Amino acid sequence: MEEYKAQINRRRTFAIISHPDAGKTTLTEKFLLYGGAINLAGSVKGKATARHAVSDWMEIEKERGISVTSSVLQFEYDNYCINILDTPGHQDFSEDTYRTLMAADSAVMVIDASKGVEAQTRKLFKVCGMRGIPIFTFINKLDRDANDTFELLDDIEKELGIATCPVNWPIGSGKGFKGVYERETREVIAYSDTEKGTKEGKTTRIPVQDETHLRELLGEDAADKLLDEIELLDGASAEFDMDLVHKGKLTPVCFGSALTNFGVEVFLQHFLRMTTPPLPRKADIGLIDPVEREFSAFVFKIQANMNKAHRDRIAFMRICSGKFDASMEVKHVQGGKVMRLSQPQQIMADERKILSEAYAGDIIGVFDPGIFSIGDTLCMPKENFCYEGIPTFAPEHFARVRQVDTMKRKQFVKGIEQIAQEGAIQIFQELNSGLEEIIVGVVGVLQFDVLKYRLQNEYNVEIRLENLPYEHIRWIANKNEVDVAKLTGTSDMKKVKDMKGNPLLLFINAWSIGMTQERNPGLVMTEFSKN
Ligand code: G4P
Repeated sequence: MEEYKAQINRRRTFAIISHPDAGKTTLTEKFLLYGGAINLAGSVKGKATARHAVSDWMEIEKERGISVTSSVLQFEYDNYCINILDTPGHQDFSEDTYRTLMAADSAVMVIDASKGVEAQTRKLFKVCGMRGIPIFTFINKLDRDANDTFELLDDIEKELGIATCPVNWPIGSGKGFKGVYERETREVIAYSDTEKGTKEGKTTRIPVQDETHLRELLGEDAADKLLDEIELLDGASAEFDMDLVHKGKLTPVCFGSALTNFGVEVFLQHFLRMTTPPLPRKADIGLIDPVEREFSAFVFKIQANMNKAHRDRIAFMRICSGKFDASMEVKHVQGGKVMRLSQPQQIMADERKILSEAYAGDIIGVFDPGIFSIGDTLCMPKENFCYEGIPTFAPEHFARVRQVDTMKRKQFVKGIEQIAQEGAIQIFQELNSGLEEIIVGVVGVLQFDVLKYRLQNEYNVEIRLENLPYEHIRWIANKNEVDVAKLTGTSDMKKVKDMKGNPLLLFINAWSIGMTQERNPGLVMTEFSKN
């Protein structure tokens, strides 16, 4: 028992959120390097090479040279067992990216020091904010000219509405980058441009009080500037409050350069010290404790047809409590069946490893004969509870779908409904019509290609997609109090319903949402649907 508690307590499961190119991949590689999982950065997920080699699960991945499936990386560092959930970005950004955040206990937010908060960071942050998980910020690329540090922090606070607390402080940037100042120990860690891809070289740490040394190391100007900034910082910044960090209301901030490998291990250590092991999770019978309760998990992602020859589906689940043992029987609550999970595996970037055991905090993928849905709960046969469902996220791209051969109506409806059920796309209909007019909504545009490809390959149905100009969708939270037919919005607004008959509104721009809200004061619109 003690051993199994210790296993859970040493788990840290998090996602990295960032805008493309902020340095998520580079940072992940450096983490793995410190964990000893790889010997040379670039060998795990190096862009051009590995992205092709990573997976041939779907033809589309090969064609595009990108990875549609997201995976988890597990490695050890300092007796922690770390699970990093990959949140696909770039063109492969999709609803799965959001769902992955449902399986994380915390998030690392990577920000490019010359850009500040960018669009995709904002979107991902919103989802983390909804869950109130702790967010740890790494401001990257200090080896390049950066924005003013106070402005960077201000930007995070204003754009994201979260308070910041710098754990360390950068000394210069670009050519003048000299290192970071550690606030707690009041030490300066001097920057050394270690060879790309190796572990941090010899670090020089000197106490900031040692002015002679400090001036020697940094030069007069940089030393003066640092001392001024420290004074300002100590006077102005809020006190560090771990409770607020754990509630996701205050983000600790570290600075560094993932590429030149400076400040990364320092950040990793701060992060591991402050983040939590798996925490209790909400279910319909109350909070489920990860240690006290036996095995339970929930499905957060379903990946279909990774292997075309077998037409298989993999259900990814996050273990929330207890220990999983491949030989044990578990209950699939929604299906009402007791079963043994088939081929439990851990899916890494480039390999699948069959597992015999796993613990709360871990992610496993299991073979799904078509019985699991996103949000489903698994627990011990004697138990019966359901974890809180995974919300449906607002798609941002919409298209009308037309079949090329109208004779294949049945296959078309079956195919599109099945793909929607797996959560790859969302389908909508005009408010007063049936399935003859289908509107598809996706979070990432690549999903349109996935839909087309899968309908053709699995259901032998050819479709044409006609892009629609809508970019925003809102669920009506108080649908029972609002007469949707009578709602008056802007002229571009479109009323639709989802598969469950819930009414929704489509808009071309954010201005229309505001106008519609103004014209209908009693209307409550949401970006997520919990039902
Ligand atoms: P992402 O996963 O967030 O999209 O970012 P990724 O790590 O792929 O980094 C994007 C680009 O930024 C890469 O350059 C990478 O080398 C660079 N980069 C990451 N961290 C730092 C840093 O600390 N300093 C500097 N100067 N650059 C950084 P690229 O030219 O697009 O790709 P590559 O040819 O280097 O792979």
